[in-house]
Amino acid sequence: MLRFLTAGESHGPCLMAIVEGLPAGLEVDVEAINRDLARRQGGYGRGGRMKIERDKVEVLGGVLYSKTIGAPVSLRVENRDWANWRERWAAGDLPKLTVPRPGHADYAGMVKYGLDDARPILERASARETAARVAVGALAKLLLAEFGVAVGSHVAEIGGVVAQAPDLAWPELWALAESSDVRCPDEAAATRMREAIDAAREAGDSLGGVFVVAATGLPVGLGSHAQWDRRLDARLAQAVMSIPAIKGVEIGPAFENARLSGTQVHDEFEISNLQSPFSNVTRPSNRAGGIEGGMTNGEPVVVRAAMKPIPTTVTPLRSVDLATGEEAATQYQRADVCAVPAASVVGEAMVAWGLADALVEKLGGDSLDEMKRRSRR
Ligand SMILES: Cc1cc2nc3c(=O)[nH]c(=O)nc-3n(C[C@H](O)[C@H](O)[C@H](O)COP(=O)(O)O)c2cc1C
Repeated sequence: MLRFLTAGESHGPCLMAIVEGLPAGLEVDVEAINRDLARRQGGYGRGGRMKIERDKVEVLGGVLYSKTIGAPVSLRVENRDWANWRERWAAGDLPKLTVPRPGHADYAGMVKYGLDDARPILERASARETAARVAVGALAKLLLAEFGVAVGSHVAEIGGVVAQAPDLAWPELWALAESSDVRCPDEAAATRMREAIDAAREAGDSLGGVFVVAATGLPVGLGSHAQWDRRLDARLAQAVMSIPAIKGVEIGPAFENARLSGTQVHDEFEISNLQSPFSNVTRPSNRAGGIEGGMTNGEPVVVRAAMKPIPTTVTPLRSVDLATGEEAATQYQRADVCAVPAASVVGEAMVAWGLADALVEKLGGDSLDEMKRRSRR
């Protein structure tokens, strides 16, 4: 079993992660992790914080001579913004927040923990934590790559602008997304997305959208039909839904499928020219998103996620000052106008994590060599 925990606050010294269960012998490419950290920081519509940060990972444990040793891997990503906060942090006079911001963890967190200040809640609820997850996800991607599995993403919608993704193989689609600052492979839609983000910024507002994460090269049979918590679709949905602001997850075009009939939706089998008894089956379509009965079916796994608009807006929202009990308007805090492109990179990390976990479960093994031997059987 793979597991990880993160720790750290948005304006504290750093984010940390401890990753357990990776096989020994996995080459840890620090630059690959840093590339993903940089991808998460980018995207049209991001706010001032990302201009301060230059995320880089430090590997502090579990890796010797660039390879995992079967021990917990410990990761750290520094917060450069810490320099601007450290004195107030030490003096205990961080700006108090008594007016909970709609759409944030503020109100529920203050009530739950009996606080008169949302600061301890927002520091940890902040999506800054996703930097640690991207570093962890990059490790998962390195493991998956050893077995020919690739994970990528693109943005399908921002603020109601819907892309028409060109009919290309996933890696080509990802390459187009990579060259776009909204991570959208449809250039005409990308232009309208940027315009929508500009308009939202002008209006003191924010936007959400939809991103798609896909994984190719997966073997058949990751996950299981046999028990609810072993079903891979459920596990991936939890992993992706755990990203802040993600409020909907579908496997394949699930909501569109729900409006069609069975004969329009289910992916028929065809016999190909291949000779092997199992690999001579192909599917002309993949509306199931690569998972049937809670197991990978050999097609690319496709996960779509809906992100709500960023809850912090320049235009104030109505709230209550919990210190006085009076009506109050929210105070603007530095924020992204739209973070769907960044969230798609976090989505990759969480899908990669879920798939790596299922791969380790399927193949077992203490070392990468052992996993590889088992994958050949
Ligand atoms: C990559 C990323 C960046 C985000 N940036 C911001 C931001 O700048 N300002 C903000 O208010 N919310 C931002 N969010 C969303 C909030 O963190 C999230 O909506 C909030 O913590 C409440 O959690 P919930 O939406 O999951 O209920 C971001 C989310 C992600 C995934």
